[in-house]
Amino acid sequence: MTSFPAWYFDEFKMAGVAFHDAAQVEVYDRNQTSSTPEKEQALVTRLEISTNHSVIDLGAGTGNFAIQAALTGAYVYAVDISQSMLSYAQNKAQKTGVTNIKFHQAGFLTYQHQDQQVDFVVTKNALHILPDFWKMAALLRIAALLKPKGVFYLRDAIFSFPPADYEASINEWIRRVAKPEGTGWTAKDFEMHVREEYSTYTWIIEGMLTKAGFEIVEASYNTPTYAEYLCIKSS
Ligand SMILES: C[S@@+](CC[C@H](N)C(=O)[O-])C[C@H]1O[C@@H](n2cnc3c(N)ncnc32)[C@H](O)[C@@H]1O
Repeated sequence: MTSFPAWYFDEFKMAGVAFHDAAQVEVYDRNQTSSTPEKEQALVTRLEISTNHSVIDLGAGTGNFAIQAALTGAYVYAVDISQSMLSYAQNKAQKTGVTNIKFHQAGFLTYQHQDQQVDFVVTKNALHILPDFWKMAALLRIAALLKPKGVFYLRDAIFSFPPADYEASINEWIRRVAKPEGTGWTAKDFEMHVREEYSTYTWIIEGMLTKAGFEIVEASYNTPTYAEYLCIKSS
């Protein structure tokens, strides 16, 4: 058991608020249309994940990406801080019959990998849960999980709008994506995201990726409020 200093970030406290029980997880799974099995399968194909590869999914949520990666024959470590998320994902994995996924209740800052370094680390829609100082620590830990030249894929709510336009950009984002109650993520959900979570700018994330030892080989700003990065561990 590793012990952390008294000043260490308590990531377990954070996540408990968001996904406390099975009912919340079920609503989450319904609303999270960016993570359907079809979309995750497309990502697995794009990353060229296949048998003999090892993959860590950090903040794995309800498991769609981890399951699609495991279906290729890759060995997958699905890591999430929320036991409710993991139980839901585990149940889904059982239904598909995949057995090559190991589930771990841990987070970016606490996961202790017991096996060899892996070929891929993926994290989607989760890194924003950490303040920037701790995002940097998380990225350093991610680099340490990867083999030399290993691949890191990051997707998240990351802002590429000009900082001076922050007010209009956030309002426009919420106006564009929020759905009526009961049909998806609502304006309240997005408002809470901006107010209480830690989405930051692309140029900050890019500086951190480089300082953590990654080469950014692809950067896409799909919209002014989402970004994805394909990175290679430099050495
Ligand atoms: C918005 S969900 C994204 C899930 C999935 N990756 C997806 O794309 O649908 C964020 C996930 O991160 C998990 N989480 C929260 N804090 C975390 C932390 N410190 N370390 C790892 N995972 C965390 C939550 O429990 C949740 O499952």
